[in-house]
Amino acid sequence: MRSIIDIPDLSLAELDALMDRAEDIIARPDDYADACRRKKLATLFFEPSTRTRLSFEAAMYELGGQVISVAGADASSVAKGESIADTVKTVSCYADIIAMRHPKEGAARVASMNASIPVINAGDGGHAHPTQTLADLLTIRREKGGFSGLTVGLCGDLKFGRTVHSLLNALSRYENMRFVLISPEELKVPSYVKSEALKKKNIPYTQETDLERVIGDLDILYMTRVQRERFFNEEDYLRLKDSYILTPEKLKKAKKDLCVMHPLPRVNEISVAVDQDPRACYFRQVLYGKFMREALILMLLKEAGTL
Ligand code: NCD
Repeated sequence: MRSIIDIPDLSLAELDALMDRAEDIIARPDDYADACRRKKLATLFFEPSTRTRLSFEAAMYELGGQVISVAGADASSVAKGESIADTVKTVSCYADIIAMRHPKEGAARVASMNASIPVINAGDGGHAHPTQTLADLLTIRREKGGFSGLTVGLCGDLKFGRTVHSLLNALSRYENMRFVLISPEELKVPSYVKSEALKKKNIPYTQETDLERVIGDLDILYMTRVQRERFFNEEDYLRLKDSYILTPEKLKKAKKDLCVMHPLPRVNEISVAVDQDPRACYFRQVLYGKFMREALILMLLKEAGTL
């Protein structure tokens, strides 16, 4: 049974096909309105979420399917000590596909090894978040017309930010990309991500601490939130939380066609005044996430023989 735990579970051809499918759904939503009739998605979210859970649920409804869900660890038998394995074996009896978010790295992998239906990782601790990457890819393709020759700046908490890890994995598959990794010393991209996504493939990248120094070189600026929930102590979080704040003033130094992205939620990293700037792409990015999740659900249910 095929599950999607991280971006390497999808080939480059599949990433492109998912984007094409999402474009077709955008153009012809009525053709998909019954595609998942009488099929059920289970959303198991053991960590806070607004966009990811709602976009999975909205995606399934737009495909004519139905949704069942547990509202967090406290509200399910996990609170009684049930294992992930037993939970997903149970959910496999009720649903056709699972989207799961969990605070522990590797939880979605464990779920996929025990479920008899496809599992989609909707974020596992500080590890990976492949469906956010699908949203990010469609955003870049739509805003920039493609991937070749882009200089991509990733800024903020690159250590714990799982969206950054999955995005680097995906973008490094395209030709002719350059990365500027902008973070405080303590929040650099983990070396396992750098070696898999960048070093193995000889992709050019630099590491910076100063956003203003490099903002003018960028085609994409991907801002991220400092991941408070993954810090071991509050003092470190308080010291680092406002390391980068994007303002209209700083954007004056940026390219006219820069694309500013953020997986959201935003805390302080982008001042709300930036929302008026046509270069702010983050709310379009939210919308594209729903279409990409529709495309992924369709792909996995077809492969599982459910559709
Ligand atoms: C991200 C996440 O959960 O990793 N949010 C999201 O799914 N859009 C980013 C974050 O929480 O900072």
